[in-house]
Amino acid sequence: MRKIVTIVGARPQFIKAAVVSRQIRKNSELEEIIVHTGQHFDTNMSAIFFDEMDIPRPDYNLEINSISHGAMTGRMLEEIENVLQQEKPDIVLVYGDTNSTLAGALAAKKLHIEVAHVEAGLRSFSMKMPEEINRILTDRISDILFCPTQKSVENLHAEGFGKHIPVRLELVGDVMYDAALFYSSSAVQKSSIIEKLSLKPHEFVLCTVHRQENTDDEERLRAIMEGLNQLSKQGSIVFPMHPRTRKIIEEIGIKLDFKPIEPLGYFDIVELLKKCKYVITDSGGMQKEAYFFEKGCFTLRDETEWVELVGHGVNRLIHPVEDNISGIVQNHMFNTEGFNKKLYGNGDAGEKIVNKIIQY
Ligand code: UD1
Repeated sequence: MRKIVTIVGARPQFIKAAVVSRQIRKNSELEEIIVHTGQHFDTNMSAIFFDEMDIPRPDYNLEINSISHGAMTGRMLEEIENVLQQEKPDIVLVYGDTNSTLAGALAAKKLHIEVAHVEAGLRSFSMKMPEEINRILTDRISDILFCPTQKSVENLHAEGFGKHIPVRLELVGDVMYDAALFYSSSAVQKSSIIEKLSLKPHEFVLCTVHRQENTDDEERLRAIMEGLNQLSKQGSIVFPMHPRTRKIIEEIGIKLDFKPIEPLGYFDIVELLKKCKYVITDSGGMQKEAYFFEKGCFTLRDETEWVELVGHGVNRLIHPVEDNISGIVQNHMFNTEGFNKKLYGNGDAGEKIVNKIIQY
């Protein structure tokens, strides 16, 4: 029997871990202990995903949130170390690019426990992003790097991984694609969001904004909301608002001409992705999910880690301040042929990850 400790803490990690956990549970040689750092804690940001996606209850909830980056990462490091000393796992699994990812990897590595990083090798090349710092450091101290895309493999090779940095590097595809395929039919049955919000299918825009680079820069945040206000004159905008964004909009007093809603669970988001006209977002996950459901995506960022989407003409970057958001959104044509490509694997990334861990 081999023991895996899975570290999660933020919304996108629950979706990713759901896929891998399901595969782990199929295997009688493996035991999984789930540690929730508590980074995301509202019901709509956390518990709803465990319920909908049938993720086992966390064995530990560290309840660390709402403090500065340094304090959060430091406290997580200390508490995760305690858990790892108690559990003595063979391997620690971390996901993505949050403070929970870095803290989990660092705590494990200092105890000489093997670390596997799911969604390795992504780069925005902007060291101003907390996510970029977390990714680079996590990759550097991991023993197995599970890469979602060809580009992520190339990024790691360019940094010397697999050459002078000895590590196992595996191109497995994207676990979020597995999730989209697996939960897509349950979403139709279990979500009534289209009726609840009285939406006309294919006539509304789905929008999310939460990145620190947008929310903590007043000029950018005002430009984004002004762009959305203009677009709301042309049709409905469905905007499930992240608590970070809501807090700042209220603090600085930005007026919205449309009514944002509370964050939604996975089934509702999938249903909205299927039925929307297009997506406007600064989220990493939503850019890919738009592609899985064949929707064009406008990304409110200066760069993206998912460069293949831009390359295939299905994602358009918009600089919130320098570009005219509503002008671009209303006039842009996406390349629908770009949706025919299998950019994120075959939907079996979770299975491949677990098989590789067993071999390792
Ligand atoms: C974090 C990740 C980011 C990821 C995102 C997904 C880091 C550095 N950032 O950003 O990579 O894309 O999650 O959503 O780890 N809050 C609530 N309720 C919640 C969760 C958060 O009120 O359930 C508040 C917090 O108190 C905080 C703010 O929202 O004030 C931001 O939360 P935080 O966890 O710091 O980062 P995210 O912006 O969610």
